[in-house]
Amino acid sequence: MEKVNLKTQNLKKKLIEIFKKHGLSNDHATISANAIINAELVGAYGHGLSRLKMYCDRISKKLINPKPKIKIKKISQSISHINADNSIGFVAADIAVKKAIQNANKTGIGLVAVKNSGHYGLSGYYAEQAVKKNLIIMIYTNAPPAVAPHGASKSLFGTNPICFGTPTSSKIPFILDTSISKINRGKIRVAARYNQKIPEGVTLDKFGNPTTDPKKALHGVQLPIAGFRGSGLAWMVDILSGVLTGANHAGRVKDPFDDFSGPQNIGHLFITFKTNLFVKNYNNRIKDNIKKVKRLPKIKGVKEIVYPGQNKYKRFKMNSKKEIKLTEVIKKDLELLKN
Ligand SMILES: NC(=O)c1ccc[n+]([C@@H]2O[C@H](COP(=O)([O-])OP(=O)(O)OC[C@H]3O[C@@H](n4cnc5c(N)ncnc54)[C@H](O)[C@@H]3O)[C@@H](O)[C@H]2O)c1
Repeated sequence: MEKVNLKTQNLKKKLIEIFKKHGLSNDHATISANAIINAELVGAYGHGLSRLKMYCDRISKKLINPKPKIKIKKISQSISHINADNSIGFVAADIAVKKAIQNANKTGIGLVAVKNSGHYGLSGYYAEQAVKKNLIIMIYTNAPPAVAPHGASKSLFGTNPICFGTPTSSKIPFILDTSISKINRGKIRVAARYNQKIPEGVTLDKFGNPTTDPKKALHGVQLPIAGFRGSGLAWMVDILSGVLTGANHAGRVKDPFDDFSGPQNIGHLFITFKTNLFVKNYNNRIKDNIKKVKRLPKIKGVKEIVYPGQNKYKRFKMNSKKEIKLTEVIKKDLELLKN
């Protein structure tokens, strides 16, 4: 992790201690703490400290294995299959992306499938690792039921994020990292915890009526982006990260907050490849591509056309200098978990 504010470093130490107290090794606790701090710094509060208690509860209930025996099966020089042994998702994803990078560096392309994993937070966080090594990356993960398949009245697909990252020839990576739902579920969870409303037009309650009440939304369905197209993308992600990898799929991934009947068995798929597989001058070509888009005339009110990942990078830089503000709810969680 890059240099961050001193208080943030102390907060990270606290998180490491909490995870170690729950049985994680120092390495695994550090990987997990780094991912949570990163989520806070990029402003993804639904994937940061707000989930700490949930992870710890699942470890205490033996649904996340604090001492996993993670197995990496070599299928070829390019392809690996990881059985994460119900590790915390951060660790499974960290191992997987590093393996995918290694495989791509050896052969040009790395394909890594993961089963028996858990919620790993932000896909883009792992994509950054590959992009920093000058690789293109695509990442898929499934998630607990939240979105109704097109035509169905009941949720089954997760918010199943799709992530694509590429070097840009500048220090700011292009990272498109989006849920296939109109709003990510973490935001709804946070709104429910703080008694806030969620935006209109993103969820339906269990009777199929539009709602801005996050608690009703959590019992209803989230709407996919772009109607049946979003539903199709969610399905594709469930196939790639669930059916293909040997993980849970078709609505069987357990909700980490509400369902303590067993481990989540989430699946992930990481695909990495070199930028010079087909052209020698990728850097110049991507630079030209982005320049052409950015130089287009802008609509009223828009100062700059930004590419995916640009805003998050700016937010991360800005927030890294500042202290992470803890709400009373989070302070209580930290107090409870450290004892
Ligand atoms: N692990 C899980 O189960 C899970 C599930 C869902 C989402 N997530 C994570 O939650 C995070 C947030 O997801 P989200 O759907 O709320 O993302 P978002 O809506 O915040 O952003 C989606 C994408 O749009 C880009 N973007 C934002 N504003 C833009 C602008 N003005 N111009 C151009 N591009 C712009 C962002 O850089 C990002 O790549 C992601 O990191 C995702 O991986 C995780």
